[in-house]
Amino acid sequence: MKTSITLLPGDGIGPEVCESAIKLLHFIADKFNLSFSVTEKSIGGASYDKFGTPLTEETLQACYDSDIILLGAVGGPQWEDLPHHLKPESALLKLRKSLGLFTNIRPAKVFSSMLSSSSLKEDVLEGTDFVVFRELTGGIYFGEPRGYDDNKGFNTMVYTREEIERISHQAFKAAAERKGPLTLVDKANVLECSQFWRKIAVEVHNDYPDVELNYMYVDNAAMQIVKNPRQFNVILTSNMFGDILSDIAGMITGSLGMLPSASLGSDYALYEPVHGSAPDIAGEGKANPIAMICSVAMMLEYSFQMNQASSVIYKAIDNVLKEGYRTEDIYSEGTKKVSTTELTKIIINEIEEVCNQEAIGLFLL
Ligand code: IPM
Ligand code: MG
Repeated sequence: MKTSITLLPGDGIGPEVCESAIKLLHFIADKFNLSFSVTEKSIGGASYDKFGTPLTEETLQACYDSDIILLGAVGGPQWEDLPHHLKPESALLKLRKSLGLFTNIRPAKVFSSMLSSSSLKEDVLEGTDFVVFRELTGGIYFGEPRGYDDNKGFNTMVYTREEIERISHQAFKAAAERKGPLTLVDKANVLECSQFWRKIAVEVHNDYPDVELNYMYVDNAAMQIVKNPRQFNVILTSNMFGDILSDIAGMITGSLGMLPSASLGSDYALYEPVHGSAPDIAGEGKANPIAMICSVAMMLEYSFQMNQASSVIYKAIDNVLKEGYRTEDIYSEGTKKVSTTELTKIIINEIEEVCNQEAIGLFLL
């Protein structure tokens, strides 16, 4: 059966990393006997420039009609002064909300070959492997009322029981599978909304008695991620706290260019790099394709339950990094600087290599 994918390259380096994704899709379709039909649509600033809106009905419909969405990036300085509803970012938010993508999963795992590239010390980083479960369709991002006038600006942080329950179940399930604790990150010393999160999380916890549940205030969590990232296994948190913490977690991997994400709902799945559109390097072949390639690996894991295929991709990336290949963002002296397309090609060849070594073919997955 064909899986329909809507590809939304978007802005900045989005189109370049999406080209890498397409090459990888062709490869894995052949290798793992999958069949994809890919439809490309505009989103973000690119869509605004063409159609006067960052998200057209046509793009939204294409997403509704597909199973999976792959997104590059949205945003750029030229669209920053547009009214809220026309900003590129609003397209992404509308898409997340319309498709009901309430669970955002952002893994923070260091490739061993990258230990020395992080701004953190190797002995602090070594063995770090945690996942942020960020609620993605509620909270202050979407709460009403919102707005500003000459005298005040306001947003509303609101969460319903149902919104907290459904993401909590996902996070607890992951913690149970990973056989480690779940840390609920909030600001319960100040916000009633956070106190409500704790109440619901405790109720959901009843279904997962083997998982240890602990709590941490978000300001402390920001510090702890940098101080001792190994202590975390699954972090469960709200939309805005998750946005901030996942960027911090991203630096653990050495570069935001390495961090993928999956946004899952009951009917749809969207995979996108966590990095922004990086307009300063757009179009120069310097973008790091690894976050996008890992996003495709997450697609195999979450949409196809092909965990082994996904690990093969991670292993191939690790090998390539060990051999010293780097895009500019992670380049350091003594390593080999390559372009987006070169690194993509090298990684795909290495995936083939790893498959051969481990005798993994279409029938074994
Ligand atoms: C992210 C981004 C988005 C967010 C922006 C682009 C709207 O920062 O996915 O982390 O804030 O959710
Ligand atoms: Mg963000």
